[in-house]
This record gives sequence, structure tokens and C-alpha cells, in this order.
Amino acid sequence: MEFSNHISFSLLFFTILLSFASNGVVEARKGVISPISHLISESLYNSLFLHKDDNACPAKNFYPYNAFIEATKCFPKFGNTGDLITRKREIAAFLAQISHETTGGWATAPDGPYAWGLCFKEEINPQSNYCDSTNTQWPCFPGKSYFGRGPIQLSWNYNYGPAGKALGFDGLRNPEIVSNNSVIAFKTGLWFWMTEQRPKPSCHDVMVGKYKPTAADLAANRTAGYGLVTNIINGGLECGRPDDARVNSRIGFFKRYAQLFNVDTGPNLDCANQLPFN
Ligand SMILES: *[C@@H]1O[C@H](CO)[C@@H](O)[C@H](O)[C@H]1NC(C)=O
Ligand SMILES: *[C@@H]1O[C@H](CO)[C@@H](O)[C@H](O)[C@H]1NC(C)=O
Repeated sequence: MEFSNHISFSLLFFTILLSFASNGVVEARKGVISPISHLISESLYNSLFLHKDDNACPAKNFYPYNAFIEATKCFPKFGNTGDLITRKREIAAFLAQISHETTGGWATAPDGPYAWGLCFKEEINPQSNYCDSTNTQWPCFPGKSYFGRGPIQLSWNYNYGPAGKALGFDGLRNPEIVSNNSVIAFKTGLWFWMTEQRPKPSCHDVMVGKYKPTAADLAANRTAGYGLVTNIINGGLECGRPDDARVNSRIGFFKRYAQLFNVDTGPNLDCANQLPFN
């Protein structure tokens, strides 16, 4: 008890120092205290993912709050761009998308289907080794499989390769690390979220209002909103079709999380009217 009081006091003191410091100093200290933890406390985090540590969840204990916070320090713009509502909405959108990717929920699940995010860390029954052998920039390593791992279910050699390069691990020779190291796992999710992969914008740019649609985007109804993020993540399979169950699940998580963050969801939740990117 005494110990935690002491910690809160130091944090408060540090926050005051930060708010009086010049911008440059705040920049330099960003690695010391993540601003994210001011927007999402451990108790809020745990209230989103009510069942992630259930015995029924294969990812039990793999996605703790601290690992998420630690990973965000690599991406200082995440949840830290725009006004307070925009910042909270971006965090809620990211957590909603990774929840769908790892959901263990079902229609009549305890606390509802959207209380079961972060239940899985590896894809169950992968239908292939997700090796695109035509990709010579990121050649598959013999015997390795690039099925979905971690919170964003990173898949394919052409994602494992660049994610590892950006984050400091060998994604092609050691894809397993994504489901064996919690901080790296979260970093791959954030890497995907923050990184523009043309012709797709980054999910981050869409959620913070930096996305500028091209004429082709406008003709395809790819206007900003959570639905466009779904399009970026898996539009080829899920968008441009009415009432897709996977899209509805992504939206369901987002609505619940936005409410818990006390922000509105913004427009264009769906991607049923959007054409996928090529
Ligand atoms: C990492 O892999 C080892 C060996 O397979 C296993 O014992 C350990 O539990 C794994 N750690 C995590 C965090 O998944
Ligand atoms: C764009 O949205 C409108 C209105 O929902 C729809 O009628 C149209 O078919 C959509 N365009 C494409 C290319 O899907």
C-alpha cells in the first residue's frame, strides 16, 4: 500500500514537471513515461478484455497491460496525435481490431461476444504456411510457417520480414517469436497499424484524420472511418459485401470499447459499400 502511494506520488510529480517543461524536453523524455498510460489505465484495459486470462483462452497471461504499454513506447505517435477524443478513439479502434483478430467470443458468451478479445495468440488450423514464394524481397525460410500470430495475427512472409526488420528481429527465420514474446507481439500489431503499405494508407493516419483519399479511393467509397481500417486489415475478404459477420464483429468490439473510453465512434463504421484496395 505504502509502496503504491509512493509511486502515485512520484508519477504525479513527474507529470507536473512534464507539463511545465518545454516541448523539446517532453520529446526527450517520451521513453521514460508513456503518455498512453494516462489515456488507458490498467483497470480500463482489463475491463475491455474481461476473459483474456481465462483457462479457456490459449493466450492466457500472454497479453498483460505492461507489455502493451511497453510496446507503445516504440511508436510515440500512437494514441498521441490530435485532440483527446481522437487519441482515445484511435486506441479504442486499435484494441477493437486486435480483439476481433484474437476473439474467443461467441453470441451467447458470458459478458457478451465483445468481452473476449485477446483470447488467442496463434491462428488455429492454418490452411497454409502463408508463404508467397513470388515475393523475392522477403523470401520464406525453409520449414517456417507465416500463419497468424500475435494481436494483429501477423501473416505472410511479406509482413513478417519487414515487421522484423523494423522491430529488430528476424521475422523470416524466427516467426515464432511473435507468439512467444508479449512485447514483440504487441509491437507487431502496432507496426502494422502505424505503417503505410501502398496503396493503402496506415490505419493510424485514417483514425487521426491524416488520410487523403485519391480519386480512385473516392470512386471506391474509401472515405475515412473505422470501416476503412477494416478495409486496410482484411478488405479483400470482408469489404464490398453486405452484412459480413466478421465486419460486424469488428464493429461490435469498437462500439463497446468506444463507450468504455467515453468517446463516439466517428462516421463510416462499415466497409460494406467500399471496394477493397488492390
Ligand atoms: C516461449 O517458448 C517456450 C518454449 O516453447 C515456452 O516454454 C514458453 O512458455 C514460451 N513463452 C511465452 C511467453 O509464450
Ligand atoms: C458507393 O456507395 C454508394 C452508396 O452506398 C453505392 O451506391 C455505390 O455502389 C458505392 N460504390 C462502389 C464503387 O461500391
